[in-house]
Amino acid sequence: MKFNKYIILVIAGLLIFSCKENNGKDLAIKDANTSQQASDIEDKVSELLSKMTLEEKIGQMNQYNGFWDVTGPVPENGDQAKKYEHLRKGYVGSMLNVRGVKDVKAVQKIAVEETRLGIPLIIGFDVIHGYETLSPIPLAESASWDLEAIKKSAEVAAKEASAAGINWTFAPMVDVSRDARWGRVMEGAGEDTYLGSKIAVARVKGFQSDDLSTHYSIAACAKHFAAYGFAEAGRDYNTADVGTSTLNNIIFPPFKAAKDAGVRTFMNSFNELNGIPATGDKYLQRDILKKQWEFDGFVVSDWGSITEMIAHGYAKDGKHAAELAVNAGSDMDMESYLYVEELANLVNEGKVDPKLIDDAARRILRVKFELGLFEDPYKYLDESREKEVIGSQTIHDAVLDMAKKSIVLLKNENKLLPLKKEGQKIALIGDLAADKTSPLGSWRIAAKDETAVSVLEGLNKYTGNTVSYAKGADVSIGKNEFAFEVKINTTDTSGFDKAIQTAKQADVVVMVLGEHGFQSGEGRSRTDLGLPGVQQELLEAIYKVNKNIVLVLNNGRPLAINWADKNIPAIVEAWQLGTQSGNAIAQVLYGDYNPSGKLPMTFPRHVGQVPIYYNYKNTGRPTLPAKDIVFWSHYQDVANTPLYPFGYGLSYTTFDYANLKVSNTYGKDKKVTISVDVTNTGDVKGKEVVQLYVKDNFASITRPVRELKGFELLELKPNETKTVQLTLTEAELGFFDNQGQYLVEEGDFEVFVGGDSYADLTSKFKL
Ligand code: BGC
Repeated sequence: MKFNKYIILVIAGLLIFSCKENNGKDLAIKDANTSQQASDIEDKVSELLSKMTLEEKIGQMNQYNGFWDVTGPVPENGDQAKKYEHLRKGYVGSMLNVRGVKDVKAVQKIAVEETRLGIPLIIGFDVIHGYETLSPIPLAESASWDLEAIKKSAEVAAKEASAAGINWTFAPMVDVSRDARWGRVMEGAGEDTYLGSKIAVARVKGFQSDDLSTHYSIAACAKHFAAYGFAEAGRDYNTADVGTSTLNNIIFPPFKAAKDAGVRTFMNSFNELNGIPATGDKYLQRDILKKQWEFDGFVVSDWGSITEMIAHGYAKDGKHAAELAVNAGSDMDMESYLYVEELANLVNEGKVDPKLIDDAARRILRVKFELGLFEDPYKYLDESREKEVIGSQTIHDAVLDMAKKSIVLLKNENKLLPLKKEGQKIALIGDLAADKTSPLGSWRIAAKDETAVSVLEGLNKYTGNTVSYAKGADVSIGKNEFAFEVKINTTDTSGFDKAIQTAKQADVVVMVLGEHGFQSGEGRSRTDLGLPGVQQELLEAIYKVNKNIVLVLNNGRPLAINWADKNIPAIVEAWQLGTQSGNAIAQVLYGDYNPSGKLPMTFPRHVGQVPIYYNYKNTGRPTLPAKDIVFWSHYQDVANTPLYPFGYGLSYTTFDYANLKVSNTYGKDKKVTISVDVTNTGDVKGKEVVQLYVKDNFASITRPVRELKGFELLELKPNETKTVQLTLTEAELGFFDNQGQYLVEEGDFEVFVGGDSYADLTSKFKL
């Protein structure tokens, strides 16, 4: 080790010497410091490992859910008593769902002060879109295409969570998904690999910051490795059967991007992939992640996913499941209780190599050292910081900003929006319009019910108009994220009359319809993508008496809203926007914020089109060859096209694209530069996401009809023109073949530039 250190110092010296620029010098020093710290950590881990018994090492690989009232009396029997006893023996490496300084301190104290070696716990929690003060659901944030804002949002979430004693989040979820039936699309970045990879990086960097050891940064977790978003028929936990090309080109890249951004943990997934449960999949965890990608953090199982290998029909019993999981590279057992029960025997029987235990424990301890937990196990546990940070104005301001950036304007006929600020009678209709819990969305365990700003409250801050509210129909009476018995969607139409009367007297009707926050998320798959319950009937009933309707959608997934698209003049996609939801929506409706969001997922015309996505393959029969021909790739009853394509979103202004230029210098500096002039042709300031799509016309593996390969978010004043330059390099122009080799092939390429995935300003180049 000393020898290693010496070499590192010499290299560091040389690096510093060779850097003439000050900036370069600083960077070299930083790199050298980082490798020095890494090597110090390795030494410390080795020293600690040398003192640990087999059981203590296995203990590091054991994660328990929070149990008993940790600050109350000690549990005396049952599972809780066993967990407590394990904690005291040093057989627990991590806990999840223990939160708040008081509670975390109680368990950390046992680990640090009562166990033989005093190894601190790493405390995990699902900080998915905030801790107590919530930002928009991740799918909504992704609609901003604003990587800085998304990074900031993760940073703010980390700040609040860390103040509550959390030092590890089970986020970001980087599963690409093309199936809106799957409830967990709300938790990801949508359907696209390129956008998803950029967002994965932003989120990882936001959570972890540049320095994991600060008290406000927390370890991130790229999940769920792999193919969880490809569950058959969008049914959660279902089988995934995915070919090599999709796996390498669509599913893996956001994980790889997260790894390259330094994510410290991965979570495997509940699903089986091509016949092998991901938790027991050596190819995924050892061959790809740890060997090929050289990931040196640790892999946590998903909740009970080691035990679930029995139900999958892959493990014969719990002991066998533990053997399969550890051999496959799952380092930490979340709530299966199997590592702590079975691993020592498996090692003693020669079924598990002790080196694998050392490796897993080393990975976990490495991250604990990086977090600085050994220097100060109580660094996240400061009561005064907890009080000061959680729910602070700065955090509310940040989540409001993110919420506004996440809204997508889907339709705005006759400039119905923005609303006039004076003298208008507004009818506000819909259960969701007054709901203060639903906007929190799924994954909001630490947030209190009824803490979101409702649309009603948001609109009432504008006092120039009168707002009359009528519910119309219940959407839900859900209370608790885990109260599965909650009734969602009633068939009761008794509130229609009052809503109709209110609408009749109004100048404008704002209807807030869609899904309750508990209707998407884990275990919340749907077969129908329309407006749940009697909301469609309510919409049509109101339309009969007043056509001046602004439909505000609340939802955690793309919806199929054909009728609304055809008939309703203005539609605003407002997802579940978190704590500041109502304020963000009101500011957009009144034009104090000009919406600039773009859809991160295709909206279908009909659920039968799902999976529907913009980067599909052409097939051999892509277009209608002649009138009345049946034999081409289509549906008889619905068009192939989506209702709203990926990347789509309007603004209160308009943008013009011109002067597309492609300079192909690929032979020389391996770059293709694309430039385009974008002009704001309307009369208000606005932001536009300039999108670049590429088509490789002919390749040794068929390529999609187009793929997003670059984008830039820019703001333009009225009449202002900016030239945007986007660059394509090897990273954007190649693909993985079926052996997992990355290839950049010569040939003809087309580019498309514009404001959505139907961009039609086009040019060509050759490689
Ligand atoms: C989910 C994970 C989550 C874990 C812990 C599981 O059910 O699939 O994404 O991190 O629970 O809450």
